[in-house]
Amino acid sequence: MALDILIGVQWGDEGKGRFVDLLSQQMDYVARFAGGDNAGHTIHIGERVFKLHLLPSGMIDPRPISVLGAGMVINPVVLLKEMEFLRESGIPVNPSRLLISHRAHLVTPGHRLLDQLNEARRGAQKIGTTGRGIGPAYVDKVNRSGILFNDLLIPDRLIDKLTMHMEEVNQRVRDVVGFETIPVDQVIDDYTAMAEILRPYIADVGEVLRQALSRGKRILAEGAQGALLDIDHGGYPFVTSSSCLAPNALLSLGVGMPKDVRVIGVFKAFQTRVGEGDFPTEVFDETTAILRGDGSKPWDEFGTTTGRPRRVGWLDGVLLRQMAALNGVSVLGLTKLDVLSGLPVVKMCTAYGGQKVLDPLLVQGQVEPTYQDFPGWEGDLQSVRKWLDLPSNARHYVEAIEAFMDIPIRWVSVGPERQQVIYRDEDDR
Ligand code: IMP
Repeated sequence: MALDILIGVQWGDEGKGRFVDLLSQQMDYVARFAGGDNAGHTIHIGERVFKLHLLPSGMIDPRPISVLGAGMVINPVVLLKEMEFLRESGIPVNPSRLLISHRAHLVTPGHRLLDQLNEARRGAQKIGTTGRGIGPAYVDKVNRSGILFNDLLIPDRLIDKLTMHMEEVNQRVRDVVGFETIPVDQVIDDYTAMAEILRPYIADVGEVLRQALSRGKRILAEGAQGALLDIDHGGYPFVTSSSCLAPNALLSLGVGMPKDVRVIGVFKAFQTRVGEGDFPTEVFDETTAILRGDGSKPWDEFGTTTGRPRRVGWLDGVLLRQMAALNGVSVLGLTKLDVLSGLPVVKMCTAYGGQKVLDPLLVQGQVEPTYQDFPGWEGDLQSVRKWLDLPSNARHYVEAIEAFMDIPIRWVSVGPERQQVIYRDEDDR
């Protein structure tokens, strides 16, 4: 495909990074299109674990050029730290390998402060944000007072905009107990210095990507967060502030409407969530510890960005179907099948009982999941590489999801390592 768009179809943390890592070996460009450093992508290569928040996971691969799209909000402090971290790990980072859209927006220390202030004000109604300033940065964007990467190229404009923005932030926090104002001069000095370093990376990435497509190059658009956190179609207000759905890749990256597009939906064999909000299939019994892990392994269910234990539950087929439809998913990748080993029974929610509702994501606690039960299986799946080597009950579970979704599951991952994947279609190798 000319353009592959890879998105998570749950509440984020589906294990997208590992598929990006697999696919990026065939790509010319890998581009992030939404969100900011609220995302956390973990890639395991041998003994090495890469945790990235802003840079596309494809950056680990030497071949593709990495791109940050216009629809993103980017904290330059975090970005520079990640660039440095990769350099220290022996991965070259330079303007021929990384392009940042001149239309992406900047996240400032003011946005972070407002994120924390807003959450404190919400009290019991808090969203459980990552505290990275994402919501306030998008508010400024929509309010037409945001600061663009393009402004980093024009020093006077950058100083004017930063001054106005930081003065407004300081005015809001001045009399709030527990919050302190931020020295405006310090922010201006820091951002002016970072502008100099980042300047060579700033580009009209839409133009670059359109030209690349016309020359037959391949692009992978790498989603962040998950479809259920989408600002328009997720469980509002317990969502993130950007559009995480596949069609937003076209808008954010400025590639028009390419003909040759494939949408890859990634999901876990069970459901997880960080932060507040509805979770119809959440479990609170002894299954919780099995699904979450105890935190001793890097792939256990603890937030990459915040370290919070993730809430866990059974696979929700109702939401999965809805999100696959909204994203136009063509093929699916399933992760973490190995985690379910040893459970006597595995469940998938196939319908919501109770009162019929217009939108199951906006009912706040009123749906009752109806489950289909599947017999469990034993054994460590992490060394399995061939479909037929999986226990028959595990295969049966995967096939049942596939039949329920009516979308092929092309990859099944059974461990965090690059090679711990079962390819169901040899063409994908
Ligand atoms: P925000 O994006 O920091 O404003 O947080 C809004 C909601 O989205 C919170 O419930 C976060 O926990 C959740 N969230 C944001 N980014 C991610 C992610 O990458 N994975 C999982 N949850 C996320």
